[in-house]
Amino acid sequence: MKCSDSTGATERCSPPRELPAWQALHAHADRLRAIHLTTLFASDPGRFERFSMRHEHLVADFSRHALDDVALDSLFELADQSGLRTAIKDLFSGARLNFTENRAALHMAMRGSCPIPDADADNVRSTGERMRAFAHALRRGEVTGVTGKPVRRVISLGIGGSDLGPRMAVEALSRLGERSPAVSFVANVDPLELDQALDDADPHTTLFIVSSKSFTTAETLANAHAARNWLVAALGAGADTSAHFAAVSNAPTAAAAFGIAPERVFALPEWIGGRYSVWSAIGLPLMIAVGESAFDRFLEGGGSMDVHFRATDFRENLPVIMALLGIWNTDFLGIESLAILPYAHGLRSFPAWLQQLEMESNGKRCLRDGTTSQVATAPIVWGGTGTVGQHAFHQLLYQGTRRVALDFIVPVGASGTSHQILVENAFAQAAALMSGRDLAAARKLLQTRNMPDMEIERLAPHMVCPGNQPSTTLLLPDLDPYTLGQLLALYEHKVFVQGWIWGINSFDQFGVELGKDMARSIAGPHTGTRDASTDGLMAAAERLRKGF
Ligand code: F6P
Repeated sequence: MKCSDSTGATERCSPPRELPAWQALHAHADRLRAIHLTTLFASDPGRFERFSMRHEHLVADFSRHALDDVALDSLFELADQSGLRTAIKDLFSGARLNFTENRAALHMAMRGSCPIPDADADNVRSTGERMRAFAHALRRGEVTGVTGKPVRRVISLGIGGSDLGPRMAVEALSRLGERSPAVSFVANVDPLELDQALDDADPHTTLFIVSSKSFTTAETLANAHAARNWLVAALGAGADTSAHFAAVSNAPTAAAAFGIAPERVFALPEWIGGRYSVWSAIGLPLMIAVGESAFDRFLEGGGSMDVHFRATDFRENLPVIMALLGIWNTDFLGIESLAILPYAHGLRSFPAWLQQLEMESNGKRCLRDGTTSQVATAPIVWGGTGTVGQHAFHQLLYQGTRRVALDFIVPVGASGTSHQILVENAFAQAAALMSGRDLAAARKLLQTRNMPDMEIERLAPHMVCPGNQPSTTLLLPDLDPYTLGQLLALYEHKVFVQGWIWGINSFDQFGVELGKDMARSIAGPHTGTRDASTDGLMAAAERLRKGF
């Protein structure tokens, strides 16, 4: 079934299960589920050539997924039948695909990949210019605090999409940050995070960026007030703290009421959602950390992925293929989680960024037609850097009872022995988690240790690793701004494709709003609507606070 909405976007309203390819894929899964990945490789030596691809300097290996050519054909048919081609056109042309909030999702416009709506063009341009001038001045030491000393430290106060993207990108590109003030991030309302950020900060030379699109987010506002109190305590009650603040927000009145000068408030268009906002003024801390031209390269990298996504046949289309493999694993093989394994310390916050992107975008059950999804949507996304995770949670990947899909992300460009060890470990893990170790191999290994047969029989079962964990390996040339931009846009588009095929709106987040409402109601006067557990816990906490 198809329906058109008032914005001109062609909406597919039918649930994915009703698409013919969905049924065909179940049949393929029944056929392939029992076949071990190593068997697929043994019977098909050309797998890597056929199931890997390159876009510019990114290399993606999909060969370690439990599928064959015919199953892959059906996945591409699924994409076609879902109306994905039209959906991509609609996305880039600014159709209001976020129909529950009556908004377009045009973050790609910040990367120059589609036009900025006329009504916003002047604002976006002038904000961009002010942002660049501010970042430039900060980097040159020309921005001073109230006592005339140049700003040496920038602390971004934000949460969710107003924190995760710039935080992750600043960490990833930290090597480019030499000439900038130190840039750090505070998200949690737990005062420890702000305290730690302020530990070695000098109030005379510290500037806070309050990053909140709405300027209503409780955690961010609490941190902004705490930061101001810290400044006042050091600089004196009469000091004009506005010299120590900037804001990224669409609520200039609220920012002004807080005491932030209008020329220090940078807005972002309404059609950029929080989790897609690192490309906009929310990226200000990143621009300060790496400089304007590196930020431009970051945008260009994202833009190159946009061009690829829009123009490339689905069979060669990196985000489309990754999305389809995710749907295959989630809905046809019943794999419920996706572990993100960057082999790069710089990408240590990438799993957290992606958690919000995937789980806030596609962690939903209401379909576009208002009915409830009958198929699984977003997987549980988690992860951590290699090789650190190898000494912690990889055990479960080897011998636990669940299948987990894995994304290895491996920048290969750096030289040096340590880096070589890092990259070799990534390859070794992907291989070992696929091949595993059977009982015969376990026995053989123990025999080399000259053990009595009885001991070998006792121990061997404990050493069996079933393997068969499906994985994608993404090789990046290096962690530079352009490649990082490509990587982020790749996952953004993957998430869009999945949301589209699952039939959900990837751009709203009403569940999160429920949590925020509940926090407000708990903080407010007791209206008798709290459940007994909440009442009990609140009373117990109060007693603990009082020490009995
Ligand atoms: O946590 C939900 C959310 O709405 C995110 O989508 C958003 O990134 C975050 O809150 C922060 O919102 P704001 O920028 O308005 O403070």
